[in-house]
This record gives sequence, C-alpha cells and structure tokens, in this order.
Amino acid sequence: MLLVVATAHAQKYEGLAATPQMGWNSWNKFACEISEQLIRDTADAMVKNGMRDAGYTYLNIDDCWHGQRDADGNIQADPVRFPSGIKALADYVHARGLKLGLYSDAGARTCGGRPGSRGHEYQDARTYAAWGVDYLKYDWCETAGLKSEGAYTTMRDALRAAGRPILFSICEWGDTKPWDWAKEVGHSWRTTGDITACWDCELSHGSWSSFGVLKIMDKTAALRKYAGPGHWNDMDMLEVGNGLTPDEERAHFSIWAMMASPLISGNDLRSMTPATLKILTNRDVIGINQDRLGVQALRRMAQGDLEMWIKPLAGGDWGVLFLNRGERTVDYHHDWQKYPLADDLSKHEADLKKTTLRWTDLWQGRGGDTSKPLDVKLAPHSAMMLRLKAP
Ligand code: GLA
Repeated sequence: MLLVVATAHAQKYEGLAATPQMGWNSWNKFACEISEQLIRDTADAMVKNGMRDAGYTYLNIDDCWHGQRDADGNIQADPVRFPSGIKALADYVHARGLKLGLYSDAGARTCGGRPGSRGHEYQDARTYAAWGVDYLKYDWCETAGLKSEGAYTTMRDALRAAGRPILFSICEWGDTKPWDWAKEVGHSWRTTGDITACWDCELSHGSWSSFGVLKIMDKTAALRKYAGPGHWNDMDMLEVGNGLTPDEERAHFSIWAMMASPLISGNDLRSMTPATLKILTNRDVIGINQDRLGVQALRRMAQGDLEMWIKPLAGGDWGVLFLNRGERTVDYHHDWQKYPLADDLSKHEADLKKTTLRWTDLWQGRGGDTSKPLDVKLAPHSAMMLRLKAP
C-alpha cells in the first residue's frame, strides 16, 4: 500500500508574474512625500496617457503610507496623508482597471521608520487582503536577528492564508542571495541596493550605497540562470524621467527590458515630458521584456565600451542590444555571421551563416536583415535595440 503523507504547505500564488510585473512606484520620485491625492492623480494619468494600456498595471505605494497600529494591533493608514484609507484608494484604482500595491518591512520598522510587520505578519496580510491590495513589496530594514528566508516565507504563508492573490516582491537588496532560496517564496527579488538616477555611479550614504544603471546591470548579469516566469531578478524601479539624458533613458529602459526585470516606473506621471512618455510606452521594447519565454539576456560580446546582449524570444525571435557604456562615440560594423546567436542556458540558437533574419530597430524604426553587416553608431551612454524575426 502506498501511503501519501500530505503536509499543510503554503505556497506563493502562482500565475501572478508569468511575465515581469509592470507598474509605478512612488519611492524614486516622492520618497515620503505621498498622499491619496497623488495616488489618485497617478491612476488617472496612467489611464489617460496610455501607460495602463501599454501594460503598467500596478500602482504601488512605497514607504510612509502608514499611521500607527490601533489598540488591537491593526495597521492603519496615515490619517493626514490618506484620510479616506487604503480600501477607498484600492476601489478607486480598481475602478480604473489598475491594481494597488503596498509596502511593508520584515522588521519592526520600515526603512522610513514606520511600523513594520514583524510579529504582525498574519494580521497585516489579512488587513491588506481586506483592503483589496494586489501587490506587496516587503523590505528588510531593522531585521537584526531575523533570517531572511524564514522571514519572507512567513509573510508568503501569511499572504496565502489571507486568501487574496497578492504579488510578493522581495526587497532585501541581494544581501542574502535570495536567488538561492526565493523561487518558491516570492515573485521577484531585488538584486542590488537602491538605484539612483545616474549612468555608472555608486553613491555612498555611509552604511549603504545606491547604484547607477550600469552597476545594477553588471551585478544582475551573473544571475540570469535564476530568473524565469514567476520569479524575476528585480533591478529596482526605473529612473526614466528622473534626470538621466534622453540617450541614457532609452538605454536604461532597453537594458531593463532585455534583462526581464520588472518594469516599475518611478517618475512623476502627472508632469513628464512627451519624450519620457514615449520611452516608457514603447510597445516593441516592452514586448521584449514581456516575452513569454522569460529568458534574461546574455552578454554575447564585449569590446571595450561596446557590448552586445542577446535575448531569445518565443517563436525563434531574438532581442539584440548594442550598448555604448563609454564617453566616446562608437562607430562599428557588426558582422552577424561572426557571432552566432547562441544561449547555452536556454538552449536557443540561430546560426546566421545558415539563416538570414530580418531585424527592426525598436527605437528608430528602420529595418534590414542579417545578410549584411550592421552599422552600429552609438553616442556615449546610448543603446540600439533590435528585434530579429524568425523566418
Ligand atoms: C529601501 C528600499 C527602497 C525603498 C525604501 C523606502 O531603501 O530598497 O526601494 O522602498 O527602502 O524607505
């Protein structure tokens, strides 16, 4: 006789991040200067400017929405900044076809000093579910004595028990190698410390640093084998619209797309320039990010400041990115036949000596095919992104 022992085993909600999650988050631009009016206005902007329809579904309130816990320990919203409460805000956001995200922390206090969830995990998860929350970013400040895997698993189980599908976004900055343990715990995990709007800088804040676009790219490159549908390497919220040059913004967005990172905009959506909106809503670039194979890009070639990245896509297509990291213009001829498109990890391959693929430049709109060398002219800090079509 076969005896099957079933143990009560909570799981994360499957199917919530089959492709990398997309949305907006308040932190990069507003930090603690948030309010329910800002969230409502941002929801309206996302509908009006086409971002919702381009795939940006989640509207995420980061740190500092919290008030105090009530006498029974229930977390409440800040009564001054969110007088109508989170439930009303969730209703407002849902009525516009969007989903609402909240932020908490595994420790006793959040990074911004608000009440964390430590010791209140099940209670908070029930509160979020009752409010209609769809997404939880869970941070790692004030966690002395806690083990990350256990702390995040506790919150995963609490969300499961609360009964509402809530996407679980792990944010412990890559400190305890979440890629080794979080695949069954969350839907994404941050790979680095916080982003800052610069190309390749590292800014020290004493006990922690924030990082520019290339620093995060380089750190995340080594982690590609851990990413896939339902469990993504999160390179942090976007800084498009927050002070990079137009070339840098296009490159930053292209890189995040190629790396299958969540695409969470982090700028002021009420007042951005048409140029910024155009970048954020480039559907071809978004399509590379949202491809259902869910393979993170691979650095295929590096020659000084010039790099070529490739990303296998469903149906035999490829995303290809040429990147100029440096301060001088690059003028280069790419011989497709010299660089077969090959990814040992996902076992995808296209030998361009034998097959010719047509390409489209996803920022410039021009096209061609791989039978002729490609002219790659790149200004400093810029990128060219192509989609190669299977015949
Ligand atoms: C940490 C996170 C950021 C942001 C802040 C809020 O630094 O990494 O993304 O959530 O906390 O205080």
